Amino acid sequence: MLSWRMVVLFIHVSAVIVALGASLFSTFALAPILAEELEPSLRLRVGRRVIRRLGAIVLTALGVLVFTGILNVLFIGAFPALLAAKLVVVVAVIALALYQHANLGIRIWHLSAAGPGPAIAALQQRYRRVGLSVGMLVLLIVYLSLGLTRA
Ligand code: HEM
Repeated sequence: MLSWRMVVLFIHVSAVIVALGASLFSTFALAPILAEELEPSLRLRVGRRVIRRLGAIVLTALGVLVFTGILNVLFIGAFPALLAAKLVVVVAVIALALYQHANLGIRIWHLSAAGPGPAIAALQQRYRRVGLSVGMLVLLIVYLSLGLTRA
């Protein structure tokens, strides 16, 4: 029951929970509550901090997923077609997450230093849309992953 393969798989699945949980929580719970409860300048200040923290958490979790994923492949000692399909989606997720946090997030962060404005609102909307796509693709990856060990 307690083996290196299980420990690595546990870390792999924990990183999925962290990445997905952080994205879903901020999109469906935090963002709408901030929008309703805080006036624009305060919302922006809180939003700036959330974007920074969330970016660090999600990108770190993705790094852990790739590292433990490689170890998983070594443990199972095979490269089935389903894994290849999964990796194609993983590459798309990583590209989108980098775009969301390293590009959009940083642009929002810099622009918001000067206070609220229409350019920020548009970027924030794109930030949320990309975040939602990342969340949905991660769910697809989870589904493909379940097939890896059960197919
Ligand atoms: C967004 C990225 C990823 C997500 C959401 C994800 C999700 C998962 C989940 C939920 C499992 C557990 C399936 C189960 O036990 O039934 C799993 C297993 C696995 N993952 Fe990932 N994964 C990701 C990235 C990767 C990467 C980058 C690789 C390879 C380089 C990889 C390789 C594997 C392998 C080989 C297994 C089976 C391990 C075993 O049964 O011992 N994963 N993944």
